[in-house]
Amino acid sequence: MIRFYPRIKVQLSAAIGFDRQKAEIIELSPSSIFLKPSGSILSVHRKDISIKGPVVLTFSLPGYGRFEYSCNIARRDKNGYVLIPSDIDITGRMKLWQFVAKRLAGLNTCPYCGRLYESLPLICSRCGWMLDFTSPNYFGYHERTLLLLRLFFRCKALPTDKLRRVINFLDTEVERRAGSEAFQEFVGTCPEMLEVFSIIRRVAVTDIPVLIAGESGTGKELTALAIHERSIRRSKNFVTINCASIPENLLESELFGYQRGAFTGAVTTKKGLLEMADGGTLFLDEIGELPANLQAKLLRFLEDGMVRKLGSNEAKKIDVRIISATNRDLDKSVRTGTFRADLYWRLNGFPLRLPPLRERGEDKIILARYFLKRFSTELKSTATEFTRDALMAIEEYHWPGNVRELINRIRRACVMTHSELVTAQDMGLENILNSSLPPYSLRSATHTNRRELIIRALTENNFIISRTALSLNISRQRLHTLIKQYSINIEELKRKL
Ligand SMILES: Nc1ncnc2c1ncn2[C@@H]1O[C@H](COP(=O)(O)OP(=O)(O)O)[C@@H](O)[C@H]1O
Ligand SMILES: [Mg+2]
Repeated sequence: MIRFYPRIKVQLSAAIGFDRQKAEIIELSPSSIFLKPSGSILSVHRKDISIKGPVVLTFSLPGYGRFEYSCNIARRDKNGYVLIPSDIDITGRMKLWQFVAKRLAGLNTCPYCGRLYESLPLICSRCGWMLDFTSPNYFGYHERTLLLLRLFFRCKALPTDKLRRVINFLDTEVERRAGSEAFQEFVGTCPEMLEVFSIIRRVAVTDIPVLIAGESGTGKELTALAIHERSIRRSKNFVTINCASIPENLLESELFGYQRGAFTGAVTTKKGLLEMADGGTLFLDEIGELPANLQAKLLRFLEDGMVRKLGSNEAKKIDVRIISATNRDLDKSVRTGTFRADLYWRLNGFPLRLPPLRERGEDKIILARYFLKRFSTELKSTATEFTRDALMAIEEYHWPGNVRELINRIRRACVMTHSELVTAQDMGLENILNSSLPPYSLRSATHTNRRELIIRALTENNFIISRTALSLNISRQRLHTLIKQYSINIEELKRKL
C-alpha cells in the first residue's frame, strides 16, 4: 500500500458534522486525518460507527489558524475514522504539510514505508521517497511526483484507445497554450483520427518523406503543416507547391528557380521553391498530377539533394523534408504507368491516409459545433446551436467535399440565419432527411430541373454512380447516358465543392 504523505501523531480537538460534535484528531497528514470521536459521539456510534460521509470537519492548527473541510470517510474501525478532505486546495495542503514537516524532525524510521535507520538518509533505500523534509523544495517536488504517480496508475488501467485520447487531449491543450497554430485547429476524436495524430507525432521527429492520401477537403494540407510545426524544422519555411495548379511550363522554373536570361522574360535571377524550403519542409500537393518530365527531375533532386537553377551550371545542395499529398489512387497510377514507381517509393516513406468525413462517426457533429462556434463569433451571428433535424442531416449526408464542405455550409448558415438555431435548410441539407423516401423523381421533373436534380443526387451520393443511380431509381447505364446528355462534368463538380 502506497502512503502518499508522512503522517504524524497529534492531539488536536476538532468539531465534526452539522451539529459540531466534539472529536479528537490523533493522526494527521496533508492528505488524510485520523479522527477519534470523543465521549458522546463514541457512545452514540459505539454499536455501529456510522457517520455517513461526507462530513464537515473543523479544527485549528497552532500557528496556522482554523481549517474547515468537507471530508469523505475512507475507512472506519472501532478506534475512529480516516477522513480525506475533498475540497482542500493547494495552499491548504501546503499549510498542513508545513505543520507536519516541522514535527518530522528527529525521526529514525521512513514515514512512508517504515524502514528503520540510525539517522534518516536523503532518500529512502527501500521505497525511494525523498526524506529531506526540511528542504523548502520538498513540497513542490512531492506534489509533482505524486501527480505523476497518480497519472501513471490511472493511465496504466486505461485501454490503449482511451490512453491515446488522453494523450491527444493533453497534446492539443498543451499546444494550444503554447500557441501553436497547426494543432489548435485540428479537431478529431474518432479512432482513425487519433491514429492520424499519433502518426503525426511519430513522423514529425524524423525526416522520413510522408505521403498523405485522402479525398479533397479531408485535411491533407493541415496534416502536412502539423508535421512541420512539430518538427525541428518548424522555425524554417513550410513551402507548398500545388502540382495541379501551376502550368506545366512554369512548374520547373517555380521548383528549381532560374538564372537571369535563362529564357525570355527572365530579367532577374530567382530562387526556386526547393531552395526557399531549404532547412524546412516542402509540401507537394496533388503530387499525382505531376507531369512525367518533372517526375524525373524531382526524383533526381530527391536522390542527390542538388538544385540547379534553369540556365545555370552551378548546383546547390538543399536540405528539405518532403511531404506529399494526393487525392487519387497513386498505386493505380503506378500500375497504369502514369506515375513513376521509383518516385512513388521515394515519396512514400510513410503512408498516411485521412478518412473521409462521412467515416468519422461523431466527429462530424463535433466538427460542426466547433465551426459553428468559431464562425458565429467571427461573423457576429446569432446562431449558437443546431436543430435536431440539422444534426441528423449532418450525420446522414455523405459530405463529398469533406471538412472543407462542412466549413462552407456552416459559414453560409451563420450568414443566412437570424435565429439561434441553425436548421438543415440553412445549410442547404433539407433534402437529406427525406431521401429515404423515394428521393428524386426524374420523371416528374421538368427538363431544366433534371440537370439540377442529377447533379444534386450525384453530390449527395459522393459521385458514386451505382448509389446515385439507385437514389434516382434508374439503371447505371441510364445515369451514364443522362450525365453525357446534360454535359455534367463530375471532375469539375468535385473541384468546386
Ligand atoms: N480535422 C480538422 N479539424 C479542423 N479543421 C479541419 C480538419 N480537417 C480539415 N480542416 C480544415 O478544412 C479545410 C480543408 O483542409 P485541407 O487541409 O486544405 O484539405 P485537403 O488538403 O485534404 O484538401 C481547411 O480549412 C482545414 O483547416
Ligand atoms: Mg489541399
